[in-house]
Amino acid sequence: MDLFEAIEARQSIRKFKEDSVSDKDIFELLDMARKAPSAENAQPWEFIVIRDPSVKSQIIEALKAGIEDEELSGFVQDFLVPMVSGAVGFQVNVQALIKGAGYYPLVSAPVWVAVCMRDPKALFEPFGGKYDRYREIISIWFILSVGAAVENLLLSAVSKGLAACWTAGFMFAEEKIKKILEIPEGIRLVSIIALGYPARTPPKTPRKELEEMVYLDRYSRVYPAPQSSDYSS
Ligand SMILES: Cc1cc2nc3c(=O)[nH]c(=O)nc-3n(C[C@H](O)[C@H](O)[C@H](O)COP(=O)(O)O)c2cc1C
Repeated sequence: MDLFEAIEARQSIRKFKEDSVSDKDIFELLDMARKAPSAENAQPWEFIVIRDPSVKSQIIEALKAGIEDEELSGFVQDFLVPMVSGAVGFQVNVQALIKGAGYYPLVSAPVWVAVCMRDPKALFEPFGGKYDRYREIISIWFILSVGAAVENLLLSAVSKGLAACWTAGFMFAEEKIKKILEIPEGIRLVSIIALGYPARTPPKTPRKELEEMVYLDRYSRVYPAPQSSDYSS
């Protein structure tokens, strides 16, 4: 499978077969992840492979508890529901969204990969606020870098016949989950990847057209794509 085929084939899978994933496969995926580019070659990522059912169930419980949080429900209702409904083209339900973003994609996956990131906030602490105005930039650099590593992992998974779902919905319970995973201060938990063999493959999610996102020379000028059926979604 070449890279274009892997990109076309990749989709978020949220229901997995029970079949286990070998350590060899997982280490191959992580090897590809660590080859991603990173700002200043900081490689701000670390990974925790989660197989232990008791660790998984503690995390699931923490995520379920988050659903009862009133303020979070309000935020999801007011902010996320309209955003997601617009993207998928139908009205999503607040509880389904919290469950979907949180534990549903993880529950059936035989293995999870928790993705950690060095916390830029902690790196700035020794400077006592002197350089805080640059913190957002470094944060973006680190987040972009970790995102690149995750995408490498996802595409490598596809090329090995595995399937995955990138999740970050758990971040509303990040502190609780960090405790379960014994992640120290100064390290953020930014994603959990559900990994396994696909049991259900949903229809592909739609994409906006290229004309809606590609400009020529100025943001105000659409750059029309050359005529090709490849560019239509
Ligand atoms: C940063 C990030 C966080 C995500 N978090 C979740 C999540 O918590 N739960 C989930 O079910 N999907 C999650 N997704 C998957 C997206 O919903 C999915 O990529 C998107 O709907 C496009 O669908 P596709 O991956 O099948 O192409 C996340 C994706 C990204 C990039």
